[in-house]
Amino acid sequence: MRLLFVGAPAVGKGTQAKRLAEALGVPHISTGDMLRAAASQPTPLGQKIKKYIDLGSLVPDELMMSLIEERFRQADVKKGYILDGFPRTTAQAMGLDLLLARLGQSISRVLLFECPDAVIMERIIERRSCPKCGAPYHLRWQRPKVDGICDRDGTPLVQRTDDTRTKVFHRLDQYRSETAAVIPHYDRRGLVRRVNADQPPDDVYRDVEAAVAKE
Ligand code: AP5
Repeated sequence: MRLLFVGAPAVGKGTQAKRLAEALGVPHISTGDMLRAAASQPTPLGQKIKKYIDLGSLVPDELMMSLIEERFRQADVKKGYILDGFPRTTAQAMGLDLLLARLGQSISRVLLFECPDAVIMERIIERRSCPKCGAPYHLRWQRPKVDGICDRDGTPLVQRTDDTRTKVFHRLDQYRSETAAVIPHYDRRGLVRRVNADQPPDDVYRDVEAAVAKE
């Protein structure tokens, strides 16, 4: 199964993608996690990417396409994948179409996560993340077993540099002006399933499972 997870920042895409990827036994490909890993390197490319992320701005399309093409060369994607946070612009969606056509693949379904802005704001400001594995936590709703420590690998949790109130407004603006345009691109093909992300995580997951179930 090849799935795309689309939605505003902090709507809960990563939380659900990690859980479903484990259940399906497919890789969770988060472009945000890939970019943060690259940005932690003291290379010119890493530092260039870091500037975009710190501003809460989109990384240029050409760079994103080469990152995805490289990821798709790895063997694990043969069994399927969840692409989380990509494509985020119409140019990326068209680039992905070309790449998939070359590989003889197609997207099974696109899950669009929806949630009011006020809820997104609360989720972002109180999010903490593992800088090693990318696992998301929330100071109230998804607390780690030990305060400040990742349940999976024991790494101290951090607050992302783009998880501030002003940057959230900018990220939401970009979502509306750039990313929302990819939805009609897939809607025309009947691939989009809307998921109410404004519910407790287990309830969202139940809807995610229903959205990917065979029809
Ligand atoms: P990215 O990491 O993809 O950020 P995002 O899309 O803004 O999404 P988030 O990771 O912020 O949120 P999420 O929806 O995964 O929510 P989460 O599950 O963590 O991208 C970061 C940056 O990289 C971009 O700004 C850009 O610069 C760059 N980038 C990435 N991809 C790019 C691309 N394709 N093109 C160009 N640039 C790109 O949940 C959020 C919080 O809520 C957590 O605390 C979680 O614990 C909590 N939570 C989750 N679900 C629930 C629930 N149901 N109830 C209560 N709390 C919940």
